[in-house]
Amino acid sequence: MALVARTRPADLAVGGMGTLMSRCLAQGLPVASACSGRGACARCLVTVLEGASHLTPIRPHESRTLARQGAGPGQRLSCQCGVADPGAAILITTGYW
Ligand code: FES
Repeated sequence: MALVARTRPADLAVGGMGTLMSRCLAQGLPVASACSGRGACARCLVTVLEGASHLTPIRPHESRTLARQGAGPGQRLSCQCGVADPGAAILITTGYW
């Protein structure tokens, strides 16, 4: 499976389409949000442990929010990015999974 979420009990394959956030929610994984996925709150921040280059590029709106929140280089807004290469291995996590 291309996208995998690292949670405390176990790694979980995350299928589907759309943003990382929508895919995780569809899988039953909670994703924090205070802006309903509009890229403003950064609550949905995920840390990309592997495969960051296979995600969709960071657009200006996401870049501004990441900078405003002091996000690290391996962090993305899960509501603003998707998987660019469906065959690539991508591993993500959050502080609350
Ligand atoms: S849900 Fe608010 S920035 Fe992603």
